[in-house]
Amino acid sequence: RVSTFLSDFILDDQRSDRVLEVFETELETGMKNGLEGSSLQMENTYVPDLINGTEEGQFLALDLGGTNFRVILLEMKAGKIVREEVQYYQVPEEKRLGPGEDLFDFLAVCIYDFTDKLALGDSCQSLPLGFTFSFPMTQTALNQGVLVSWTKSFNCPGVVGKDVVGLLNHSLAKVKPDNQKNLTIEVVAILNDTTGTLVKGAYDRPNTCIGLILGTGCNGAYFERSENVLRWHGGKYDCKNVIIDPEFGAFGDNGCLDFIKTQFDKAIDVSSLLPQSFTYEKYFAGKYIGELARIVMVGMNKERLLFPCQDVEGLLIKDAFPSTMLTEVVEDNLNQSTERTINVLKKFSANCSPDDALIVQHICVVISERAALLVGIPMAVFLRRMRTQEGHIAVTGSLYKCHPTLKARMEYFIRKYYPEWKGESFLSDDGSGKGAGLIAAIARRLGI
Ligand code: BG6
Ligand code: GLC
Repeated sequence: RVSTFLSDFILDDQRSDRVLEVFETELETGMKNGLEGSSLQMENTYVPDLINGTEEGQFLALDLGGTNFRVILLEMKAGKIVREEVQYYQVPEEKRLGPGEDLFDFLAVCIYDFTDKLALGDSCQSLPLGFTFSFPMTQTALNQGVLVSWTKSFNCPGVVGKDVVGLLNHSLAKVKPDNQKNLTIEVVAILNDTTGTLVKGAYDRPNTCIGLILGTGCNGAYFERSENVLRWHGGKYDCKNVIIDPEFGAFGDNGCLDFIKTQFDKAIDVSSLLPQSFTYEKYFAGKYIGELARIVMVGMNKERLLFPCQDVEGLLIKDAFPSTMLTEVVEDNLNQSTERTINVLKKFSANCSPDDALIVQHICVVISERAALLVGIPMAVFLRRMRTQEGHIAVTGSLYKCHPTLKARMEYFIRKYYPEWKGESFLSDDGSGKGAGLIAAIARRLGI
């Protein structure tokens, strides 16, 4: 009966092949028309080049969208990072959900706190800045990005439909402290975290061709041949490839994936901050994967398949089982133990038998397996599209970093759909933010 309860999570070959086919169709339509007609936005990032070994100077980078907000300084000599400073700032909930202007003022205050601590205003007049803004944007240039919609745990009124660079510039001017009057911060690039991860990944390891985020949210950027990119603004393209941000976390928002949606996925969506959006991401990303397991456990408890002799009240609280607990349980399973699982479940005052622990492990493993498949599919499609057998995948994000089997299982599913692939995925810690500094350096070199 436990297996029957979980059976909708198991995607047989027929259904997983169909996910891949639908993804390819949505990708083609998205390349032509964006969100009109497809759930894949396929946005041009206007990043036309990688580091070429000549970049020099100091560059600031920001990274907003995951667990922490980061401000970074990169110093480059002959295209190499010779100094890096990173400072993390917690974004309080009232800034994540309050008026947009307050959020951008907060970011600007953090930036000046950082430049002040490093005394950057003393030594230089003008600092180029790359801004990783990990949300869907419509871009018309490297330094222009209009927010399409908020995702994950942000929902600030007054920002959708506005150019985010403009909002940041406004706040930078507004909150500038007197002791930093000589410092000019110039936002030269706005980018998605996947783009930053790809550029930093390619800097670390040649042949990197995908930047994947597997953290709070999920999305992956890749190189597309320029002639396939129809949506260029501001003149002709003059580069061979350009990085595309597919925004595949929204795959399925138009209903094209409803054939894999379980009752548990529906429950996640209904109770999420932004229902009926970012369907694909809600199937497995870090913000949702533990919650999915919790909802399944509650359902099984009601049916007396799990903790048969008690109602486990502690499990009824939303987000009580975060992805960190799921990864711990999967690790315990990998070690053929139940000790840590029992410990985790004690937090819900569940009187946990060894059988209960094994069932919870099974739930977490089944959900993780679906996650690996669903991330593997877009990766295989991009690699096949780029016709690269050696291409590597740079990955940033807590889920990839902490989950004990996701990397190997994702690579297994990539090879299932692209057996010729000889590359691998690798962790690019902080890649999303540092990539923004590198892109600011590239923009400076190219004079854009
Ligand atoms: C992005 C952030 O949204 O998520 C990055 O912009 C972060 O800062 C990435 O690296 C993954 O991190 P997390 O915290 O979601 O695992
Ligand atoms: C969400 C955002 C996307 C980002 C991803 C990973 O899907 O819309 O822009 O890349 O999260 O952070």
